[in-house]
Amino acid sequence: MSEETNLPTIVEEPGETATRRAFLVAAGAAGLAYTAALAYPIYRYLASPEEMALSATAVTEVTLKDAQKLPKGSVLMFKFGTSPAMLIHHENDHWVAMTAVCTHLGCTVQYEPQANRIHCACHGGVYNAETGANVSGPPPKPLKLFKVAVSDAGVNVSRA
Ligand code: FES
Repeated sequence: MSEETNLPTIVEEPGETATRRAFLVAAGAAGLAYTAALAYPIYRYLASPEEMALSATAVTEVTLKDAQKLPKGSVLMFKFGTSPAMLIHHENDHWVAMTAVCTHLGCTVQYEPQANRIHCACHGGVYNAETGANVSGPPPKPLKLFKVAVSDAGVNVSRA
């Protein structure tokens, strides 16, 4: 004995398949756009401001004429391409150059010779003035160091 169902039969009209396909393509494109809209801010958050600034410049070295005369315990702010950077001549005669772009949200940091530290006034981030290491506050990464070569003509700073 067979049972007969009284369910309606779906019959596709000509052109209905094409409409369904167009809908799926549009939904897929909207999904991709939505994913990209979500992913880009995440990418921007994960890429540090310092890296973004440095990658935007094609400059690989800068020569700071007469910077060898910089007194001990002082700093020279300069531009590495378009990115702020600093050259520090420490009291122990050690020379250090690093980016001056805070790795938190990109504020320009300052060298404080009295405390021998680098400070970001935006949110109180602190970095080690010798190594650029992030010491306290919100900065997630150290400041990027450059290579330094001191000569009688000046100081050459290049990407490490
Ligand atoms: S931008 Fe430097 S601590 Fe926030």
